[in-house]
Amino acid sequence: MTTRGVSNIGAAVIGSGFIGTVHIEALRRIGVHVHGLLGSTAERSAENATRLGLARGYASLEEMLADEQVEAVHVTSPNHLHFEQVEQILTAGKHVICEKPLAMTSAQSAELVSRASDSGRLAAVNFNIRFYPLNQHLREVVGQGELGDIRLVSGHYFQDWLLMESDWNWRLEPERGGALRAVGDIGSHWLDLTSFITGLGVSEVMADLATFVNLRRQPKGPIETFAVQRDVETVAREIKTEDVATILLRYENGARGIVGISQISAGRRNSLQYEIDGAKSAAAWDSEQPDMLWIGHRGKPNELVPRDAALMSAAGRQAAALPGGHVEGFADTFAALFRAFYMDVAAGKMRDDPPYATFADGHEEMLVGEAIAESSRRGQWAEVNRSPVEVASK
Ligand SMILES: NC(=O)c1ccc[n+]([C@@H]2O[C@H](COP(=O)([O-])OP(=O)(O)OC[C@H]3O[C@@H](n4cnc5c(N)ncnc54)[C@H](O)[C@@H]3O)[C@@H](O)[C@H]2O)c1
Repeated sequence: MTTRGVSNIGAAVIGSGFIGTVHIEALRRIGVHVHGLLGSTAERSAENATRLGLARGYASLEEMLADEQVEAVHVTSPNHLHFEQVEQILTAGKHVICEKPLAMTSAQSAELVSRASDSGRLAAVNFNIRFYPLNQHLREVVGQGELGDIRLVSGHYFQDWLLMESDWNWRLEPERGGALRAVGDIGSHWLDLTSFITGLGVSEVMADLATFVNLRRQPKGPIETFAVQRDVETVAREIKTEDVATILLRYENGARGIVGISQISAGRRNSLQYEIDGAKSAAAWDSEQPDMLWIGHRGKPNELVPRDAALMSAAGRQAAALPGGHVEGFADTFAALFRAFYMDVAAGKMRDDPPYATFADGHEEMLVGEAIAESSRRGQWAEVNRSPVEVASK
């Protein structure tokens, strides 16, 4: 039961790059007050706060956390900073939404799960793709058994922004992005989304990771995510993290899966696709046509379900902001996720089975990622190594 409106809640954002800016705009849209931001230096905080029309550019995380108006903090910094920043945020008694991946290792993410639980604060991971309304809708459809038992989950997440040797980003540096690159950066979205919809955890994986662009040109100065400028001075860097992953999956109910992950697929700007085949029917969705869900049948014509409140489940309707036919997209998913999260903040507790990813879900993706890395290293199937405590609490 909501006891106060979200507009009385104050937030602040760490990072104002590609995705930090999307966070700030979505928070403003749902009426949460954004008090300020933190950048990599005090000067950058001030500059970016001015650019984005925020009252404060904090000089440090300590200064942000000392601001009593700030009840919740969004972490949109590069991956290697998440663990330490989230720990500090929870210690300061603030709620937190952290960008994916939650941490650099599963040891860190396990620690954050327990810190969040001890803190009594709300903690979520920003797996925003869950919040395309038709994905929320399909989760309910699958939960009601309309597809029958799930047998096969297949698809891909392909991008092309790291195709050229001149493409550069901090994600290519393992010490900032993590040991897994394409899998950690975008594969984690596909794995979270398909587990969210099917309700099935991955139990084993057989993975093959490949690096094709072994040498890249790193600009000498800083460069923004998805930047396209090429006329800068560069140095050659050897790259060891994967451009491509091909992965076989076994799910806990015996279902099978197959997914391709790539950041070097020309023409695929941001293409996530899945197909879920059940014993009765199938469903398929494409992130570049997000307002349409395909339902496949054997004994009657297939269906195309538009994102239309009259045709979706309650969860689908809740995530939708506009009437059918008025296209919704990437930025809208952030507003829908934050709306669900801040309704819980306003209510004073996380609802049972929240539609947004919890820290336990973020930790789960770290475990699956580590099994993928291990399988590729050893050239054989690897189990997702959940500790007995984690299995008992699932
Ligand atoms: N959910 C999604 O769809 C999605 C999309 C893109 C990125 N992400 C995640 O968001 C995070 C940021 O990615 P991005 O693409 O926005 O990167 P980016 O490089 O565009 O932005 C990173 C920001 O962090 C700031 N920063 C760097 N060091 C800092 C420090 N010590 N303290 C505070 N701020 C610091 C930078 O100044 C910059 O503003 C990553 O974890 C990434 O995985 C998620």
